[in-house]
Amino acid sequence: MSATGNIGNFTTVDTAPDSGWFIGFMDIANALPEYRVMKDELAAAMGDLDGKTVLEVGCGTGDDAREVAALVGEGGKVVATDLSTTMLEEARRRSAGSTLPVEFRVADLSGLDFPDDTFDAARAKLVLMHCEDIEKGLDELVRVVRPGGRIAVFDYDFDTTIVDHPDTEATRRAMRCFSDGHRNKWSGRQLLRRMRARGLQDVTISPLTVVMPFGFFRTLAAGRLANAQESGQLGLTSEELEQWWLPLLRAEEEGTFFASFTGFVVGAAKP
Ligand SMILES: C[S@@+](CC[C@H](N)C(=O)[O-])C[C@H]1O[C@@H](n2cnc3c(N)ncnc32)[C@H](O)[C@@H]1O
Repeated sequence: MSATGNIGNFTTVDTAPDSGWFIGFMDIANALPEYRVMKDELAAAMGDLDGKTVLEVGCGTGDDAREVAALVGEGGKVVATDLSTTMLEEARRRSAGSTLPVEFRVADLSGLDFPDDTFDAARAKLVLMHCEDIEKGLDELVRVVRPGGRIAVFDYDFDTTIVDHPDTEATRRAMRCFSDGHRNKWSGRQLLRRMRARGLQDVTISPLTVVMPFGFFRTLAAGRLANAQESGQLGLTSEELEQWWLPLLRAEEEGTFFASFTGFVVGAAKP
């Protein structure tokens, strides 16, 4: 897979020249062991799902939606939505032949075509942090859940991204620039406040740190840093950026590469 995709462009997957990159990227991410923990914690935050109707927004390739569909069982239903038709085509392809109760629909989280109080629960994993209007997105998530229903969200806080590198200043610059490439780079630390501002109850928050293998780190950061370098936002020449990667490649060869970032699983109930 190429390392050229720009992680900040998850709202424009369909028009990206490399839309397949976003599918491959999510597959690499979702295979990390911490993502298993993330999915389990999100499921726990939604409570008992047996027989429930669940909305999954920004469903991507649909793998999570099928997992949730297994939890709701035959008496329940999952409606899985995404802004991207490329993602939904992949989700439908992967779900072909499945008898799980999941329906895929195109929908922009900032204007959902569902009546108020439709769902028993709603889930947004790695989606609000990309939304053009995060406040509206969360409003919509809350609106379509019935009173007493539950909301489960996971978002990163991109300023928690660290990598062990001998050049402190260049690394600070690179990680700041990487973080700034995300529309809602601080979403993780803001989720609790946003949930409380909407009068949600029983709000729980649990940090989750993901240790990044080198391949994932490179896939995550290389495209954004290269784009930022070209547009003058990084403050490093292309040679300096190339040099910056070298100790990381060496660390990978020597088995000492270390990078991580932290996100937050937030659960809440609609009063
Ligand atoms: C980082 S991916 C996460 C996909 C999936 N939730 C997962 O964890 O595998 C973000 C997804 O949100 C979708 N997305 C971005 N903005 C959206 C919006 N405003 N409404 C609905 N989906 C959106 C993207 O198309 C993409 O599929």
